[in-house]
Amino acid sequence: MEEFQVVTRKNKKNWKKSKNLKKNEIPLLDGDTSPVIDVDKCIGRIEDIKSSMETCDFWRTIKEEIIEEALFKSLDVKEIVLYGIGSIANSKIAQHQLSLVLLITQYLKIKVMYYDPVLNDQEHLVLNGFNFVRILYNEECKRSVSIPTLFVMFHCGKAMYNNLLWANWKQLSNLVVIGNAFSSYVDRIPSSQLKQTAPYIEKVIPFTKETSITNSYHFNDVFNDTAIHVFPDDLLRKADSSFWENVKEPESNHEDVEIISKKEEGFTE
Ligand SMILES: C[S@@+](CC[C@H](N)C(=O)[O-])C[C@H]1O[C@@H](n2cnc3c(N)ncnc32)[C@H](O)[C@@H]1O
Repeated sequence: MEEFQVVTRKNKKNWKKSKNLKKNEIPLLDGDTSPVIDVDKCIGRIEDIKSSMETCDFWRTIKEEIIEEALFKSLDVKEIVLYGIGSIANSKIAQHQLSLVLLITQYLKIKVMYYDPVLNDQEHLVLNGFNFVRILYNEECKRSVSIPTLFVMFHCGKAMYNNLLWANWKQLSNLVVIGNAFSSYVDRIPSSQLKQTAPYIEKVIPFTKETSITNSYHFNDVFNDTAIHVFPDDLLRKADSSFWENVKEPESNHEDVEIISKKEEGFTE
């Protein structure tokens, strides 16, 4: 598959150069060594992937079974927040995931806001070309929503889902989360460890309606282990009082390789 030309190597730690940013200040990449990409070519490439995805069974299944069943029957989402898409210039996986987000957006006709610390200036231009709105601050995925919102977080770290759940613990039924299947954490991680590292995922699993996305896409590493999660009121009503108590904010851990904290990126409060 054709790749975009990388003129210089991106220093992945570049974002660490911008220090003491206030909320809503855009980090400037001082002496940016990001790869130079052709923005129009990148947009065209993603449009091509989207067009071919639109004709395949994978999209038909997502649209008919997942979006209509899991989303519309549960709640009518008003916005999409896309966290952790990855480098859309350099990662084929990110390009294919972005193409699916475009199809979902086109289908639902709602706005998309996004954040990923790895994105460079040209990648922002690509996403802005698709009318996606950049979130200007590293929220550490702690966005609290008062309207039904679809969070798209393909293959993200469990700390990111854990933070999102914490931020919305009082309004979980507003969330739809597409990302790593929460049930697979239970299968893979001992419960004591999951309780310690991602307590909100561990607590919410019994009250989650999880629908797996069948991995029928022709590249099997793009949408593997992915599910759509909703937290219906009728399930949440079964939670006992301890579920709603001690809802302590997860602390940022700079050693955690699963999430880039706002401090690591140079943001202050
Ligand atoms: C494991 S990668 C997944 C990338 C891509 N979606 C994929 O499947 O290959 C996790 C992504 O989360 C992003 N990320 C880390 N911390 C983040 C944060 N605080 N907010 C949003 N995205 C974040 C990383 O930069 C990275 O692109």
